[in-house]
Amino acid sequence: AQLDKYAKLAGLSYFGTAIDNPRLYNPEYMSHLQSPGEFGSLTPINAQKWKNIEQVQGVFTWAEADAIANAAKAGMGGRKVMRCHTMVWFKGLPSWVETTYSKSDMEKILTAHIQNLAWHFKGRCYAWDVVNEAIDDNGVFRQSPMYKAMGLPFITHSFRIAAQSDPSARLYYNDYALESPSLSPGPKISITLAMLRTVIAQGATIHGVGFQAHLKVGQVPSRSAIASTMQQFLEVVDEVAITELDIRHSPLRTPSTREMWEKQARDYERVVGACLDVNSGYGSNGGKKKRGCVGVTVWDFTDRYSWVPAEIPTEGEACMWDNNYVKKPAYWRVLNLL
Ligand code: XIL
Repeated sequence: AQLDKYAKLAGLSYFGTAIDNPRLYNPEYMSHLQSPGEFGSLTPINAQKWKNIEQVQGVFTWAEADAIANAAKAGMGGRKVMRCHTMVWFKGLPSWVETTYSKSDMEKILTAHIQNLAWHFKGRCYAWDVVNEAIDDNGVFRQSPMYKAMGLPFITHSFRIAAQSDPSARLYYNDYALESPSLSPGPKISITLAMLRTVIAQGATIHGVGFQAHLKVGQVPSRSAIASTMQQFLEVVDEVAITELDIRHSPLRTPSTREMWEKQARDYERVVGACLDVNSGYGSNGGKKKRGCVGVTVWDFTDRYSWVPAEIPTEGEACMWDNNYVKKPAYWRVLNLL
C-alpha cells in the first residue's frame, strides 16, 4: 500500500507530506515517512519560514531546512521532491521585519530574502510557495508589513524576484478557504482571482495556486464544487495542488468512533477525488496547455504530530494515520480512489 506510487499511476506528479524538524530524529516516524512508495514529496512545516531562516537581517541559518532537504534526498524511501514553503507570509516573521519600512526599503528586504532562499535551494524545489495567505477571510488584503510598505506590488515583486532567482521552480500563491465559496463568507475567491490576474498582467510569473485544505469533518464541500473552483483558478494559472490537507473533527469528541473516522474518510475522498476529476476534465477538453491538479500534500500524516490540537485544543484527529501510526479509514479510502 503506497500513496505516492498509486497517485503517480493515477496521473498526479506526487503524493506528499509536510514534516517538522524534530520528527527527523524519531525512527518510528521516519520509517513511515520513508516507507517505499508512500510519499513522493516533502514540505518543511516550519524550517523555511522567515523567522527560522533570517532571524537576524542578513544572517541566514540553513541547518534545519537543509536537514529536511537531505531527508528528501535520502535513499531508503526513494528520492522525493520538495514543495518549498514559504518565502513571504504575514506570520512567522522575525521582529525586524515587523516594523514600518518605506516602499523602497521593503523592496530591497524582499529581494534579498527571496534571492537567498531561492539560490540556496536552487534545483531542489519542485515548487515554491512564494506568497502565502495575502488575503483575509473577507477578501481584504492582510495588513502585513509587506503590504503596508508596498501595497499589492509586494506580491508582483516577490514573484518577479523568485522567477529570476530560480527559473526552474514552479511558483505558487498558497492560501486557505479557496476550495469553495461555501468556505469563505466574503468574496475571498474572486478577490484572489483578481489579484492573480493583476500580478500576471504586471509581468510576473505565477505558475500555480495551492489550496491548503485545512478542513473540518462534515463541512467539506462536494467533490464537484472543489473541482469547479480549481477549474476557475486554472483559467488564470497552469496548475493547482492540494498543499496542506488535513480534515479535523470539530469539536473532537473522545473516544473517537469508527463512524467518525469513516465520515472523515469520505471527506478525504472528496478532496483527493476533486484533484483527480480536474485532470480528467483536461483530458477531454484537450487543447489547453495546463497541468491541472498536480499533487496532494497532507499537513503531516499522523495525528501524533498534527498541528491542530496544539493550536485548537478542542479539535483534532485530522490526519490519515492515528496517534499510534495506524492507518485510518481515510488512508484506505484515498488509496482505493487512486
Ligand atoms: C503552521 C505549523 O503547522 C505550526 O507548527 C506553526 O506553529 C504555525 O504554522 N497555513 C500555513 C502553514 O501555510 O505554514 C501553517 O503551519 C498552517 C496554516
